[in-house]
Amino acid sequence: MLQWRELYNQCCQCKRCELGNNRINMVFGEGNPKAKLLFVGEAPGADEDKSGRPFVGRAGQLLEKALKAVNLIRGEDFYIANVCKCRPENNRTPKEDEAQACLPYLRNQVALIKPKIIICLGAVSSKYIIGEDFKITRDRGKWFERKGVQIMATFHPAALFRDESKKALFWEDIKEIKKKYDALND
Ligand code: URA
Repeated sequence: MLQWRELYNQCCQCKRCELGNNRINMVFGEGNPKAKLLFVGEAPGADEDKSGRPFVGRAGQLLEKALKAVNLIRGEDFYIANVCKCRPENNRTPKEDEAQACLPYLRNQVALIKPKIIICLGAVSSKYIIGEDFKITRDRGKWFERKGVQIMATFHPAALFRDESKKALFWEDIKEIKKKYDALND
């Protein structure tokens, strides 16, 4: 297991898959490295690739606002990262080999952060973190336990722009996340 600086440097130089050839920036993840709560998305989009920061575009701003409404503050209460650290062209879904090449970095981040709660944002991160059989419409909002870590998935915030009807369930999930987070401190 690498420590933060070495891990970050390795990710910066990474050419384990094709995505490393086309990136502007590697998007490592950011937030409180000692947080009990970790969010995992799919892969950077155009805004993230440009800035080198996760979830700064439209979807990210929506997520940040929803979390702030339940007093979960970006930079303080959670860490946020992605399955893939480089942008797939035209925001396509990462290929299996790209995700597999990048997952060891995320696992290393999880080992360093030691979160008590992991939230998968969308079907892609759910598939790699919870399992192949995960179905976002069927299984979102359900808690799973792995090695003492509570894991749940909700819709990817970008999906809410495509389908407004998902907003209510997303909001239910945000409130459920906050409840679980508060229960850690009881
Ligand atoms: N979508 C993601 O899955 N991750 C980001 O960082 C931005 C958008």
